[in-house]
Amino acid sequence: MKKTYLDNLVNPIIGLSPMDGVTDAPFRQITAEIGNPSLIFTEFASVEGLARNATALLQHFRYSEKERPIIAQLYGIEPESFRVATIIACFLGFDGIDINMGCPAKKVSRRGAGAALITNTKLAEQIITSCKVGLTDFAEGIKLEDLELKTKMKNAISKLQKENGINADKLERKILPLSVKTRIGFDKPAVEDWFSFLAKQDLAMISIHGRTLKQMYGGEADWANIAAAAKIIKKDSQALVLGNGDITTRVEAIEHIKKYKVDGVLIGRAALGNPWVFLGYNASKNERIDLAIKHANS
Ligand SMILES: Cc1cc2nc3c(=O)[nH]c(=O)nc-3n(C[C@H](O)[C@H](O)[C@H](O)COP(=O)(O)O)c2cc1C
Repeated sequence: MKKTYLDNLVNPIIGLSPMDGVTDAPFRQITAEIGNPSLIFTEFASVEGLARNATALLQHFRYSEKERPIIAQLYGIEPESFRVATIIACFLGFDGIDINMGCPAKKVSRRGAGAALITNTKLAEQIITSCKVGLTDFAEGIKLEDLELKTKMKNAISKLQKENGINADKLERKILPLSVKTRIGFDKPAVEDWFSFLAKQDLAMISIHGRTLKQMYGGEADWANIAAAAKIIKKDSQALVLGNGDITTRVEAIEHIKKYKVDGVLIGRAALGNPWVFLGYNASKNERIDLAIKHANS
């Protein structure tokens, strides 16, 4: 088995959670340079858009070497589009592929994507299977030309490969880890059913935000249910389990890993304007102002 980013993760695992409209390339680069999180996700990108040649979406997949391990996050509902988008992400040199099964936004969940998949295990399974097919296609040597994409999309992918520092001829053909980021339920916690299902999907990693879709971002993250989900997953699978929700400091991150028996955590909102959160360092006002200026210029 070829090595993947999972072989190089060092404890404590504290990653940067994906945030649409926030964790774009400049944000991620600065966070990587200063806070060096254990792993980083892109903002989510629509698989239907990618498979239908929306070159503008490729901007979500621009990254720099410093951000590694960097995982491409995908969302949508069409299994075949997931396969194509997975292959595109492989060509762009990502370290892993993550499926969004947690977004509560109406524009996403009304279509049956994101957290709505919690109530549709049939489609969730088809999506996971399609991503695995895409990963295998890539490992077995599929070419960019083989994809049914328009020439303008293929050219844009090749251009971004170069900008991401990827040598198309030297891409390592291996199966990348597939993961899912999700919530504890749809309108109420559905830990037993949902995580028993996910545990059987042979995933490399499962990240759990301790809220239901209905809660959106209200109330408090339910870490007792994250712990219950972790227990269920660990019974049936080798997947790494990351807990997520309301963590504001490195100390809290380490405490939560121990107390709730997860392999690691993701930090989202607390990293806004504070890449030092991963280090447990309290930056001074001047350091924050200097960083804000750097960010604005990047
Ligand atoms: C503005 C914003 C955008 C988000 N976009 C995504 C996304 O693209 N993909 C995803 O899986 N989660 C997304 N999330 C959820 C976060 O990754 C995370 O699960 C949530 O904020 C809870 O973690 P926190 O309390 O550490 O922020 C988003 C959250 C926010 C606040």
